[in-house]
Amino acid sequence: MRKMLMLAAALMIGGLTWSVPGIADVMSLRGDKALDAKATAPDRRRQVTDDEGFKRDWKEQPPLIPHKIDKDQVTLDVNTCMRCHGPDTYKEENAPKVADSHFIAADGTKMETLNMRRYFCSQCHVPQLDAKPLVDNTFKSN
Ligand code: HEC
Ligand code: HEC
Repeated sequence: MRKMLMLAAALMIGGLTWSVPGIADVMSLRGDKALDAKATAPDRRRQVTDDEGFKRDWKEQPPLIPHKIDKDQVTLDVNTCMRCHGPDTYKEENAPKVADSHFIAADGTKMETLNMRRYFCSQCHVPQLDAKPLVDNTFKSN
């Protein structure tokens, strides 16, 4: 009986070590840095810009931002994106007009002013970096 129990225990432990990856296989996000060591700043990367704009990967994609936005501000008081993309200014600035969909309320009615759900532009529109994706992605565009 005791032998059987020991055998069962040995099998269980064997099973456990088989299914759980060894600690050595798990790569920490901090690389090989010790937990109490100071983190190093990630590499600085250059933003990718494009005067022609970026191709959309699917029809309803919020277009990617093809220019620098370091100096832009979207706060309670000011939205500098609208200085170029607003319906009154876009022609003069030679910029694409903010989409008509951004002036439609949740109930479908057309609004005179920008729908506040669209106020924080960079919630949906983002600049691009040439960086290796952190996780694999099998998304295929339409
Ligand atoms: C100084 C004027 C100016 C400002 C400010 C500005 N943009 Fe632009 N934006 C442009 C122009 C011009 C283009 C056309 C492409 C180009 O020339 O870079 C453009 C292109 C875009 C596009 C691509 C549209 C498409 O259909 O491909 C997006 C998205 C965009 N801007 C978002 C923003 C957001 C968000 C902000 C604020 C954080 C902003 N822009 C601030 C002038 C501006
Ligand atoms: C909730 C997400 C969201 C927010 C917030 C948002 N957008 Fe968009 N935007 C989109 C989507 C999705 C599209 C593409 C589909 C469409 O045209 O509605 C788009 C399209 C655009 C286009 C291209 C229009 C065209 O005719 O090709 C511009 C320019 C733009 N947005 C500017 C802005 C600016 C400037 C702001 C901030 C004031 C903003 N957007 C806020 C989602 C968003």
